[in-house]
Amino acid sequence: MVDPMRAERVTLRDARTVTIRPSRMGDAESLMRNANLVGAEAVYILLDHIEDMEAERRWLAAFDGVHNVLFVADTAGEIVGSADCDGGNFPKTQHVGGVGIAIRDGWREVGLGRILMNRILEWMRVRGFKKAELCVFASNARARRLYESLGFLEEGVRRRRVRIRDAYDDEVLMGLWLGD
Ligand SMILES: CC(C)(COP(=O)(O)OP(=O)(O)OC[C@H]1O[C@@H](n2cnc3c(N)ncnc32)[C@H](O)[C@@H]1OP(=O)(O)O)[C@@H](O)C(=O)NCCC(=O)NCCS
Repeated sequence: MVDPMRAERVTLRDARTVTIRPSRMGDAESLMRNANLVGAEAVYILLDHIEDMEAERRWLAAFDGVHNVLFVADTAGEIVGSADCDGGNFPKTQHVGGVGIAIRDGWREVGLGRILMNRILEWMRVRGFKKAELCVFASNARARRLYESLGFLEEGVRRRRVRIRDAYDDEVLMGLWLGD
């Protein structure tokens, strides 16, 4: 079986290459930059801006590759995208992992999202998770299409859960059963 924690160089549709690998502590600044760039666009993720580098380091240190994991797309030491999975904290939900992904502008729609999601799902299967869950803003057609193409099904809608600039948006809950 291939190690889901491997570092692997991949070629994107536009011929650029990135290395997909688990995060390490040295990624903190670059990860914060990536999150802040995506957050500043306001329309894709809940987070707007992080400033606290110590909090970022604590967050990063918590990924152990067993209960949770963070994969990054690294190009010459700069992180241009990341995907994470957080395992359930309670015994009753330990089979479930919550997934998140953020790729910065300029690196989208060339296959990286699918590569990162596939790696997360591969890791989840090897770790014995039975279900992947995520939340997506209803207006985020690109992300929803990606998740649907991977087999995620819509499980619910939280109406007007987010306010983006001057408009409310729904949050769609999606799930993918990984078990038998
Ligand atoms: C959403 C996101 C993860 C998708 O990753 P990506 O690298 O841009 O997408 P990919 O090139 O891997 O394409 C994967 C699939 O997404 C869908 N997709 C891509 N571009 C699309 C578009 N413009 N419109 C609709 N669907 C689109 C397609 O199903 C595509 O599959 P295909 O290439 O086999 O047709 C990425 O764009 C991103 O991080 N966006 C900003 C942050 C964000 O939205 N995070 C998710 C929050 S829930």
